Amino acid sequence: MPVSRYPIAVLVSGSGSNLQAIIDAAEHPDYSAEIVVVISDRPDVKALDRAATAGIAGEVVPWDNYDSRDDFTAAICDAAERHGAEALILAGFMRVLAPIAIDRFPNRIVNIHPALLPAFPGAHAVRETLAHGVSVTGATVHFVDEKVDHGPIIYQEAVRVLSDDDEATLHARIQELEHRIYPEVIDALGRGALVVEGRKVIWR
Ligand code: GRF
Repeated sequence: MPVSRYPIAVLVSGSGSNLQAIIDAAEHPDYSAEIVVVISDRPDVKALDRAATAGIAGEVVPWDNYDSRDDFTAAICDAAERHGAEALILAGFMRVLAPIAIDRFPNRIVNIHPALLPAFPGAHAVRETLAHGVSVTGATVHFVDEKVDHGPIIYQEAVRVLSDDDEATLHARIQELEHRIYPEVIDALGRGALVVEGRKVIWR
């Protein structure tokens, strides 16, 4: 195991299958990143169970406890920093962070989205993909900026839409892809291999 690994906080709201993929990848001795905390905006989610099983600290920052998006965001950033995290990894996190998070973690907030951005941003990407009738979709890993599902794209890969797909079958195939690519991108981030130049991300 490297002497010092890049400390990350993983932000979740639900099942946490991407979290699990990162936990599993981080078991490899050469993996560059270490999850120091898992932060959820709601209690009793499976992602927190996954963290506990892996011996990783879990924190709940309930959205309803805060008067504003800024206050909620500040509490998320505080929790991450308390555990020494240097980056925020959004993995099925269903809240939009306020811009103050980007000031505190510049080019160090990453999200995964189940579509080929800039197509189909938002919370119902897979449903809208099917409704639109496109034949190719995929997954996008991107840095987070002030706009939703908009920041510089780090990596994308395509998935073919099948004629008999429904939302569940298509999302399952996209997630299979997500579980392979997200840990790889985070490893690259942890190695300092991602350089942002405007809207472009260069892999060194
Ligand atoms: C993923 O499909 C991701 O692209 C989207 O939310 C889903 C989270 O799934 N942002 P999980 O909680 O990682 O299982």
